[in-house]
Amino acid sequence: ARTADLLAPGAAGAASAAVAAFNVITVEHAEAIAAGAEAAGRPAVLQLSENAVKFHGGALAPIASATAAVARASTVPLALHLDHVESVDLLHAASAHGFSSVMYDASALPYADNVKATSEAARWAHARGLWLEAELGRVGGKPGDAHTPGVRTDPTEAAAFVADTGVDALAVAVGSTHAMTTRTATLDHPLITELRDAVPVPLVLHGSSGVPDAELRRAVASGIRKVNVGTALNTAFTGAVRAFLEAHPSTVDPRRYLAPAREAMAATVERFLHALAGPRTA
Ligand code: G3H
Ligand code: ZN
Repeated sequence: ARTADLLAPGAAGAASAAVAAFNVITVEHAEAIAAGAEAAGRPAVLQLSENAVKFHGGALAPIASATAAVARASTVPLALHLDHVESVDLLHAASAHGFSSVMYDASALPYADNVKATSEAARWAHARGLWLEAELGRVGGKPGDAHTPGVRTDPTEAAAFVADTGVDALAVAVGSTHAMTTRTATLDHPLITELRDAVPVPLVLHGSSGVPDAELRRAVASGIRKVNVGTALNTAFTGAVRAFLEAHPSTVDPRRYLAPAREAMAATVERFLHALAGPRTA
């Protein structure tokens, strides 16, 4: 599946209200996300971040091809997205590895530099049939980032940014923060509505792990179309590994603890998909 199709209302396999995008680090993540999406009967996006690629020694091909194979074997539509890309070299690797969309993240740059870098990325992506997401306003909380919970995306600036760059989707700062391990974020719903009315492309919520279900549903009702979830999967996965190893301290075969961890992650994916509105695909 292609990310753009999952976001196109009325397209076959489209997620009707919002599509959930889940972060992949290892192949177990991809397997768990596919299992959770199949159990929920809903499409989803599998996304690999630049940080995950760095974890794999900078090699995109092995984890990308494994993730693509998992997506192809799934009974529900799963799209491949490259997330939080700051390296132009990595952006340029996307088209050769089965990704249908990329988030090019120049949000740390001053506005004018963000516009220039993002426009170039969008031109490059569109020439290859790729859908490009960008960020304006800092969601914050990524490793090495200042934690900036107060920062918000300005609707007037957002409209100008989308017009000036030609991006296909916009990640907005509306109250969520990356890497939260509690679901305690509150979102600025009037701002989401203002952004939806000002910006002609789908809005993306990052840092959704920290957003409670009711807030997520409201955000989708207010105009969020792509919901990115990473940390909540790792909380489930690592919690299951920890519980297993505490109960079985002499275990050495990783399959013994990875299997329950993958199941816990799949259950989390399924819960997020049920929490987001929209009819089933199967
Ligand atoms: O781009 C990925 C997401 O923004 C994930 O954020 O790990 O806080 O859920 P999260
Ligand atoms: Zn993010």
